[in-house]
Amino acid sequence: MSVVETVLLAIWIMLPAYLPNSAAVIFGGGTPVDLGREWRGARLLGDGKTWRGSIGGAASGFVLALILNEALAAEPVPAYLPEFELLAALGLAVGAILGDMGASFLKRRTGRERGAPFPGVDQLDFAVGAFAVTALLAPSWFFEHVVDLGVLVVIVVVTPALHLSANFIGYKIGVKDEPW
Ligand code: CTP
Ligand code: MG
Repeated sequence: MSVVETVLLAIWIMLPAYLPNSAAVIFGGGTPVDLGREWRGARLLGDGKTWRGSIGGAASGFVLALILNEALAAEPVPAYLPEFELLAALGLAVGAILGDMGASFLKRRTGRERGAPFPGVDQLDFAVGAFAVTALLAPSWFFEHVVDLGVLVVIVVVTPALHLSANFIGYKIGVKDEPW
């Protein structure tokens, strides 16, 4: 596969994992996932992780995967772009939300307030979560399409750039409180 093909494949695979956290900003608000509970002197997750944001975000990523599958069936797209098995779509979308939640858990444990930056973790938490849950739910799809050195290198390089750009746009248009 050429470099361009590898980049396109990596972005394609990650689209259902990229959308959930941006969509969570739009859907977010209301009851926090941790219901306000504290643990060891700090919130378990904090007010930045809500049920509406988490469910709306994960559902958005899942629906995007279904739309991409429809596009595969309808348009003459390159053969190397894989269809998303339903469990892979679920794993990428739910895993992205869970990875971001895991990072909030770590932030609260390390004394970081809601919205405080955690460089590196903020940019890759959702990718790690998406991979972990997809590997569990759809192991053969995961090993066939994601476990490839070129694809993984592109994801690790491109993901932080896409994440920072999306958050910066969200901040500029006023839906996000911080530019990271
Ligand atoms: N959001 C949500 N539910 C999630 C993730 C995000 O409701 N599972 C919404 C919240 O309104 C949140 C906003 O999206 O404030 C931005 O998300 P994020 O930057 O992840 O949260 P922070 O407020 O920065 O909180 P934290 O420090 O815990 O990351
Ligand atoms: Mg934040």
